[in-house]
Amino acid sequence: MLLRLLVSATIVVCVSAQFEVLRFPCSQLVTERLDPLVTPGQVSPHLHQIIGGNAFNITMDPAKGDISQLATCTTCRFKEDKSNYWTAVLYFKHRNGSFIRVPQIPNEGTGAPNGGMTVYYIRPRPPAKNLNFTIFPEGFRMRVGAPNARRNPYVPGTAGVNQTTFRCWDGTGIGPGTPGVGALDSVEFPKIPCKGGIRSQVYFPQCWDGKNLDSDDHESHVAHPTIADKFNWQSSWMFGTDCPASHPIRVPLIFTETIWDTKPFNGKDMWPEDGSQPLVWSMGDPTGYGHHADYVFGWEGDSLRRALDSPKCFTGVPRNCDQLTLQTDDEINSCSQKVVVPEVTEGQYLERLPGCNPLQAGPEPATVVADCDAASTTIGTPQQTQA
Ligand SMILES: *[C@@H]1O[C@H](CO)[C@@H](O)[C@H](O)[C@H]1NC(C)=O
Ligand SMILES: *[C@@H]1O[C@H](CO)[C@@H](O)[C@H](O)[C@H]1NC(C)=O
Ligand SMILES: *[C@@H]1O[C@H](CO)[C@@H](O)[C@H](O)[C@H]1NC(C)=O
Ligand SMILES: *[C@@H]1O[C@H](CO)[C@@H](O)[C@H](O)[C@H]1NC(C)=O
Repeated sequence: MLLRLLVSATIVVCVSAQFEVLRFPCSQLVTERLDPLVTPGQVSPHLHQIIGGNAFNITMDPAKGDISQLATCTTCRFKEDKSNYWTAVLYFKHRNGSFIRVPQIPNEGTGAPNGGMTVYYIRPRPPAKNLNFTIFPEGFRMRVGAPNARRNPYVPGTAGVNQTTFRCWDGTGIGPGTPGVGALDSVEFPKIPCKGGIRSQVYFPQCWDGKNLDSDDHESHVAHPTIADKFNWQSSWMFGTDCPASHPIRVPLIFTETIWDTKPFNGKDMWPEDGSQPLVWSMGDPTGYGHHADYVFGWEGDSLRRALDSPKCFTGVPRNCDQLTLQTDDEINSCSQKVVVPEVTEGQYLERLPGCNPLQAGPEPATVVADCDAASTTIGTPQQTQA
């Protein structure tokens, strides 16, 4: 429902008070094997698509400066957001065993960003008891999801949180229901060709311990809200719930969507003959359960607070926002970084996934390949990333 409301401006206005979403696109900054949270200073084991400010780097030590000041441009619609966000990259596996990156297309009502994601910041709402929230401090970062997971973390009969999901667009629109619980949503890759493409969806944790900018696993300083056993999922999932005592500080809920244009790969003759589905994450994950995303906060000054306190900004329509500076499609698309890891990752069929990522279907967690022969150092002459 959240997204369907955004299709019509009239509906957005009447529902904004209820949902209070700041929604905007950020185009691709760069696609490469870097992950300054998990493997700082090193080439990452798998490929990521990265959006946001151009202070993104192989290492992003918060002690080395504020990225909202270091960045000179951002791929986000709002100039004030120099944060970085990244996720894995989707590949299609051809019947002959080769892989090609699945292209990305703009989301509903986001203009013409070159790839990237749609980002939402969402305020807490009733029935949550505490509607106050704190803006992330400078240097804050977190990760959600486990790249090596190959099993559905959801335990039937429990009030689990499906933090990473896929929506299989059936070709009629963006689909019904709150992302993650809609009739077209799944935690694993859709098992059928999706006529309109696939939207991958990530809910970041919205409760913080109030102390740590990061943690060893990049997760334990944050948590999802506590979800009651008999919760009304359809109306309140992830929105109207309270933080656990261990992580009492409410921060805005960050939710991201990425639209993968799987339509060119939907043909019956392109799908595996054994009836399985042909998509894999860049970690060599053919299940979808390794879906993950990372965030480094980088909003300028008090801009995020001002935006989230202004009803004009949380209507879901960027041009309505009276607190932030809009950028055009040309501006966001012209902010980019060159690739420093010397390898081809997209635009053509590849014999293997970038890095050393043979397909591992689980259900045991994926393991690291010993003696990886893939590029492990960066180059001095960065290369242009492909569109
Ligand atoms: C990344 O870090 C390196 C080494 O500190 C530095 O030379 C380079 O300018 C940085 N790149 C960006 C885009 O900040
Ligand atoms: C698989 O098919 C694609 C598309 O025709 C082609 O580009 C690629 O080279 C093929 N790979 C192999 C191993 O034959
Ligand atoms: C929320 O913030 C207001 C204003 O700062 C404060 O008066 C109120 O006590 C806060 N509520 C909770 C539950 O923390
Ligand atoms: C989470 O996913 C599982 C199966 O993938 C599903 O049965 C369950 O209803 C989902 N939970 C929510 C809250 O949507």
